[in-house]
Amino acid sequence: MTQTVLHIDTSARRSASTSRDLSAQIVERLAPGRVLRRDLADPLPLIDERWIAANFTPEAQRDEGQRAEMALSDDLVQELKAADTLVIGLPIYNFSVPATLKAWIDLVARAGITFRYTEAGPEGLLTGKRAILAVTSGGTPVGSEIDFATGYLRHVLGFIGITDVQIVAADRMNVDPDAALKAADAALAQVAA
Ligand SMILES: Cc1cc2nc3c(=O)[nH]c(=O)nc-3n(C[C@H](O)[C@H](O)[C@H](O)COP(=O)(O)O)c2cc1C
Repeated sequence: MTQTVLHIDTSARRSASTSRDLSAQIVERLAPGRVLRRDLADPLPLIDERWIAANFTPEAQRDEGQRAEMALSDDLVQELKAADTLVIGLPIYNFSVPATLKAWIDLVARAGITFRYTEAGPEGLLTGKRAILAVTSGGTPVGSEIDFATGYLRHVLGFIGITDVQIVAADRMNVDPDAALKAADAALAQVAA
């Protein structure tokens, strides 16, 4: 299948990064027709009061300044909408996701655009996509009760409609790197193009 992949890396390490190695291998395996790239080592701005005011102003009523305020968020949402598959390099930082990824989440979780509220509760609007997470950690076991990264990201992606989430993990790299990389290789082999 010719697909568009949105490839996001979040490790602050631009080289010698295991999550970057893994996310690149995943993208290669998917052999996409088109790759959209976001390297969040170039950090995104945090949302602020002006951004929130612009976001809650209906699009047709936004003034020029508010449209400019939303431009980056609009671009990030467009990339997300264009992607069939998201590949996210995700090192665990202080038991959670890197702050730069949280900044991305705050910019793409938009009521009426990527999710909406219904009488039955919130509904994700970005359906029909999948996500593959290349997760790394030093000592935190992925899926353990102190891993607040993968469960959180899985929830957020589900909240915007992406419920097909696969994890390729090289966790506990500081404990047993050989075992970690072997497990990641095995998980990688399960990724279907
Ligand atoms: C700022 C920072 C915070 C970290 N916090 C954790 C943590 O809470 N748990 C853990 O297991 N590893 C932690 N680590 C280790 C990284 O998750 C580990 O080195 C991982 O391989 C980094 O991925 P990368 O090689 O793609 O940069 C932390 C590393 C950094 C730089």
